[in-house]
Amino acid sequence: MTLVQQLFRTKPTDQIVAEGGQGEGGELRRTMSLWQLTLFSIGATLGTGIFVILGQAVPKAGPAVVIGFVLAAVTALFSALSYAELAGTIPVSGSSYSYAYATLGELIAWICGWCLMLEYAVSVAAVAVGWGQYLNTFFKGAFGWELPAAITNSPGENGGVVNLTAILIVVLCTWLLLRGASESATANTIFVMIKIVILAFFIIVAFTAFQSGNLAPFAPMGIAGITAAASQVFFSYIGFDAASTAGEEAKNPKRDLPLAIIFSLIIVTIIYVLVALAAVGAMPWQQFSESGTEASLALIADQALGATWPGLIISFGAVVAIASVVLTVLYGQTRILFAMSRDGLLPRVFQKVNPRRQVPVANTLIVAVFVAVLAGLIPLGQLAEATSIGTLFAFAIVNVGVLVLRRTRPDLPRSFRAPLFPATPILGVIFCVVVMAGLAGVTWVAFLLWMAVGLVAYFLYGFRHSRLAR
Ligand code: ALA
Repeated sequence: MTLVQQLFRTKPTDQIVAEGGQGEGGELRRTMSLWQLTLFSIGATLGTGIFVILGQAVPKAGPAVVIGFVLAAVTALFSALSYAELAGTIPVSGSSYSYAYATLGELIAWICGWCLMLEYAVSVAAVAVGWGQYLNTFFKGAFGWELPAAITNSPGENGGVVNLTAILIVVLCTWLLLRGASESATANTIFVMIKIVILAFFIIVAFTAFQSGNLAPFAPMGIAGITAAASQVFFSYIGFDAASTAGEEAKNPKRDLPLAIIFSLIIVTIIYVLVALAAVGAMPWQQFSESGTEASLALIADQALGATWPGLIISFGAVVAIASVVLTVLYGQTRILFAMSRDGLLPRVFQKVNPRRQVPVANTLIVAVFVAVLAGLIPLGQLAEATSIGTLFAFAIVNVGVLVLRRTRPDLPRSFRAPLFPATPILGVIFCVVVMAGLAGVTWVAFLLWMAVGLVAYFLYGFRHSRLAR
């Protein structure tokens, strides 16, 4: 085999599927239903985007922020259709990493897996960093006191020493994950129900204060404003793909994974559009602030009912929402590493399954320590943006993967086929590239550095240990 052939060797789809579930020392357990998988994806998706970024995006587009949410949903939809097709065809835990291995070869698969670490481990650390502040907003409203700044902020930021609250949420979620996938899915179901009920509460309350005058002029910043808002709120849709990391723990993955991915995207889109419409209908758009926190939603609810308890409920919603994002995204990261380890691209410790609990315990602990240290000690605010680029890259690869697999393996049974092929995956790639091109130069530099480190790691370890090489 030449070097190029080695770098682009693909793993046969049938082999990937046949190995599903198997780890070293034990197997993962198939416990998740369609309902739990859908809520899993919603758990990973519905978070800071709607509670915080909505408020920050309103000044960019005015009331037309609602259209921004629809545009971002359409962008996500093309990639979601591709995810659905590949998740139904290759229903394993590695998500886009495994799809790339079957279609574009080992090097691209590794790069994709490395990007997924940005989408999962690094982004979950960034999300955990902010959790203490939401907790404090809630504590302040409920009990009139706050946790000290030293333990709720990153070192060097706003008097922070160690962000213990970030570490705490990671530890709590890890504890749940170690109890088992089914237990984690049950906890996530409760979290998601709470956040949906709280957002429904917001929608109802805000609509009581709805004034059609607040919607005029509808698009004061024109098309440019709407597209800027759409790029910003795209973040709020990231996570719909989380169900694709549960392929080896789903009861009926071929049927349920595609449905869970599509259902979760439809449900969050409906919620987002309603929340956005209710928000801009209840408060003049000029009163939203680009630097706002979840306070804008809380303020709207307080003003609508002329009390302070509604805002308190919204802050509680943000606390629960972020907890479920941390839980599901941590889970996804462990399962992607599990798949990469099984292929020999990462050390074997990541594929060890505890026979009693039927979860990869060592893997989960390593990920938790990595994320907790990152979240506790490093100010990650800006890094959150850099994670979008990795996500978009992985999305683009999935779209290309659909195009390739239809050509190379037209015979494979597909439980879901992206409609209007090849238009949908091609549009999916174009949208990803356009959004990536719009990201800041510094984000690109961070991304390229991350890639360089990944390539070195691949040549030092994965290339030599790949099971396909043996
Ligand atoms: N979509 C996730 C959120 O909005 C990342 O928090």
